[in-house]
Amino acid sequence: MTERATNPPVTEHATLYLHPDRNLALELVRATEAAAIRATPFIGHGDKNGADGAAVDAMRKFLGTVNFSGTVVIGEGEKDEAPMLFNGEVVGNGRGPACDIAVDPIDGTSLTAAGRRNAISMIAAADRGAMLDASSVFYMDKLVAGPLAVGVLDIRKPVAENVRALAKVLGKSVSEVSVGILDRPRHQQLIAEVRAAGAGTRLLLDGDVAGGIDAASYEGRLDMCIGIGGSPEGVATACAIKALGGLIQTRLAPGSDDERQRGIDAGLKFDHVYEADDLVAGDNTFFVATGVTDGNLVSGVRRKGPVIRTESIVLRARSGTIRRVVADHLAEKWLGDDG
Ligand code: FBP
Repeated sequence: MTERATNPPVTEHATLYLHPDRNLALELVRATEAAAIRATPFIGHGDKNGADGAAVDAMRKFLGTVNFSGTVVIGEGEKDEAPMLFNGEVVGNGRGPACDIAVDPIDGTSLTAAGRRNAISMIAAADRGAMLDASSVFYMDKLVAGPLAVGVLDIRKPVAENVRALAKVLGKSVSEVSVGILDRPRHQQLIAEVRAAGAGTRLLLDGDVAGGIDAASYEGRLDMCIGIGGSPEGVATACAIKALGGLIQTRLAPGSDDERQRGIDAGLKFDHVYEADDLVAGDNTFFVATGVTDGNLVSGVRRKGPVIRTESIVLRARSGTIRRVVADHLAEKWLGDDG
């Protein structure tokens, strides 16, 4: 007698399986792929703005094809007057959901210009109004780690305490704990404290979005990523962390009294620890990143005979899906000026 096949029991978490819906990130990834491809001729040529400009143009063009009405809440470029997708710019074809988007056509423009590792192109998206507008304060102090760190680490505690707590929860010795920190003079003291606690540092030349995601991923090389980096990057990282299920805590780090005042005027709080839900509300968040140069998170763009190969990660919080998308693009279609 043959047994009748039965469907697995339906749990409350199976709603996405029963009612699959659109994954916006699978369309947005075309824009980060395009930006990464267009930035590639600039790798190692010392032209930061040229790389950024090419990536911005390509990203804007491809975002225009996506069925959504995206408002750039977090653009990039104010810091050094680089070409940018500016805050308030509306992208997409206007049909479909209204979204906030955070873009960084290249996170790691200096890395790209120098021909160094770990430059990515990224976009994060969420429901309209969901992202914190922290544009009036350029830097945030951040702590990012994986799911096991939730409820264990706290950015308010001394770093040595966090390092010991992380080692314990990860089942490692403290000396095995690997801490990512942007290699900046402002972090000298922090780096010394991590090392004095017995952990190892991985100093990042640039790119604390990739560093944060690496720290939160179960297959990453970092156990936590800490220190002061860009506020826009902090909000974008939060969109990714919502899908990865890790921990992100941030505190605004104004560089001057004027900047602090601008933040206060914009309604930002300086005595507050902004966690994932403060940085981006809800679970309808998406994050995509494509490698520009080879990195720990994704491989960079490479030419393989007639094709240009890109590698991206595509994260969606509502489903918790983490995709790696390897795409082969016909090189001949990308060699002209019209993309
Ligand atoms: P851009 O390449 O987009 O300029 O950002 C690179 C980056 O390293 C970010 O990842 C980081 O958050 C920020 O710059 C840190 O700023 P700074 O270079 O001023 O320390």
